[in-house]
Amino acid sequence: MTTMNGKVIIITGGASGIGKQTALKLAVEGATLVIADYNDAAAQQLVTDLESSNVTAAAYRVDVSKGDEVKALIDWTVQKYGTLSGIFNNAGIGLVKPFLEMDPASYHRVIDVDQHSVYYGMYYAARKMVELGVAGTIVNTASIYGTMAAIGSFNYNAAKAAVVMMTKSGALELAEHNIRVVAVAPGFINTPILGNDDSFKNHLGSLHMRGRIIQPEQVANVVAFLFSDAASAINGQTIPVDDGYLSFKTKQG
Ligand code: NAI
Repeated sequence: MTTMNGKVIIITGGASGIGKQTALKLAVEGATLVIADYNDAAAQQLVTDLESSNVTAAAYRVDVSKGDEVKALIDWTVQKYGTLSGIFNNAGIGLVKPFLEMDPASYHRVIDVDQHSVYYGMYYAARKMVELGVAGTIVNTASIYGTMAAIGSFNYNAAKAAVVMMTKSGALELAEHNIRVVAVAPGFINTPILGNDDSFKNHLGSLHMRGRIIQPEQVANVVAFLFSDAASAINGQTIPVDDGYLSFKTKQG
């Protein structure tokens, strides 16, 4: 009996990077998974791979910036698997621009995808868990940039800071229903969101205490722990997975 047997967990942004590695980790622990992503082909491929290892999983195409689509995802999951134990609100994008060029469309796009999506996931999942009487867990993906300002990231800074606060506020209000809400704040993680330029990635890695980029598996390990009963006393907190980034001032910036 593994720790996640019988648990049904939705992972948004599950087709790539942190979400994909979390899916692989939770699958090993025995969870049933819904890989929710707007990259349907990549989500389907991951599900095919999981199924070949006898994992129960399904792909669902969703645009998390649209509340009605997130609600439909949650209803579909419960119809298919009979319950909902958790949701990892993880899908996100970056759109870097200097503040004086941060036009309303660029601002709103990141707020919609990185912030409003987390509200939708929390809101519709929590309502469903309460309806089902499930003591569920909600994990959100924040960022070190939810705490620290970065040049060109006004939109992303605002969205991720909101995720940190929504995690606290949601945890407070859902506690009476025995639903935990927690988050991770990754540092610089080796995923497609950072692009393909190895020297840029090496530079970002050098900003961590140990000077190297973090692998998405290292974040997935923490997310899986947060979903587990071993983390049952952690609530409302955003856990940095940043190799010390938030704890010191680098020479480079
Ligand atoms: P990634 O690009 O590998 O994965 C993001 C996934 O989200 C992709 O599969 C993409 O198709 C999906 N997605 C994007 N917009 C979507 C939408 N509107 N609806 C549905 N799916 C959508 O990137 P990564 O790094 O795995 O990102 C996951 C989360 O981690 C994001 O919230 C990101 O902001 C956060 N993060 C990443 C860091 C990094 O250095 N890689 C650092 C801190 C936070």
